[in-house]
Amino acid sequence: MQAVLATAALAPSVGNAQPWRLVRIRSAGCRAALAAHVDASNARAAERYAGEAGQAYRALKLHGIREAPELLAVYCDERPRAGQGLGIATMPEMLRYSCVTAVHTLWLAARTRGLGMGWVSILEPQAVTALLDVPDDWTLIALLCLGYPAGPSDLPELERRGWQAREPLADRLFER
Ligand SMILES: Cc1cc2nc3c(=O)[nH]c(=O)nc-3n(C[C@H](O)[C@H](O)[C@H](O)COP(=O)(O)O)c2cc1C
Repeated sequence: MQAVLATAALAPSVGNAQPWRLVRIRSAGCRAALAAHVDASNARAAERYAGEAGQAYRALKLHGIREAPELLAVYCDERPRAGQGLGIATMPEMLRYSCVTAVHTLWLAARTRGLGMGWVSILEPQAVTALLDVPDDWTLIALLCLGYPAGPSDLPELERRGWQAREPLADRLFER
C-alpha cells in the first residue's frame, strides 16, 4: 500500500501544490461509522427510483466499506502552503482537479498490482469530514475502497448487471 500511495503522490498538480491529503482509515470504529453513514445515504438515494428501477438499484453493491482491506479518504487542502498560489488565481478548482489526478494515479498503481478500487460517492461530505475529524477547509474528494477483486472482469460491474453499458466514443467526441 505504501508503494501505491507513493506513486499517487507523484501525480501532477497545479503549481506543484500537491494539495491532496490522504487519510488511511485504520480504526474499526471509523470504518463502522462510515459504513453506516453510506448505507443510510444509499437508502435515501434508492428512493429516487421507482418500481423495477428501484429493485435493480437496491440489488447493486455500491460500496465495500466493511470488507475492503484498505479504506482511504482523499481530501483537498484548499489553502496549501506549497505552490504559492500559482495557477489558481482564476480557477481555484484546479486544486481539486489535481487531487483527482492523484486518485487516478493511485487507481492505476493499484491495478498494476492486481488491486481493485471502488470510489464511494453516496455520502454527505460534511458528515464524513466530521467523522474523520479533519480540518474544515479540506474538501472531500474521494472515499476509496481497495482490495483484491473477487474475480477478473473486462466489463464494468454496472454493465455486467445491466444498469448502464459503455457507449461509443464517437458519441462523445466533437470537432470544431
Ligand atoms: C467519481 C466516481 C465516483 C464513483 N462512485 C461510485 C459509488 O458511489 N459507488 C459505486 O459502486 N461505484 C462508484 N464508482 C464506480 C466504481 O468506482 C467502479 O465501478 C469500481 O471501481 C468497480 O470497477 P468496475 O466498474 O470496472 O467494475 C465511481 C467512480 C467514479 C470515477
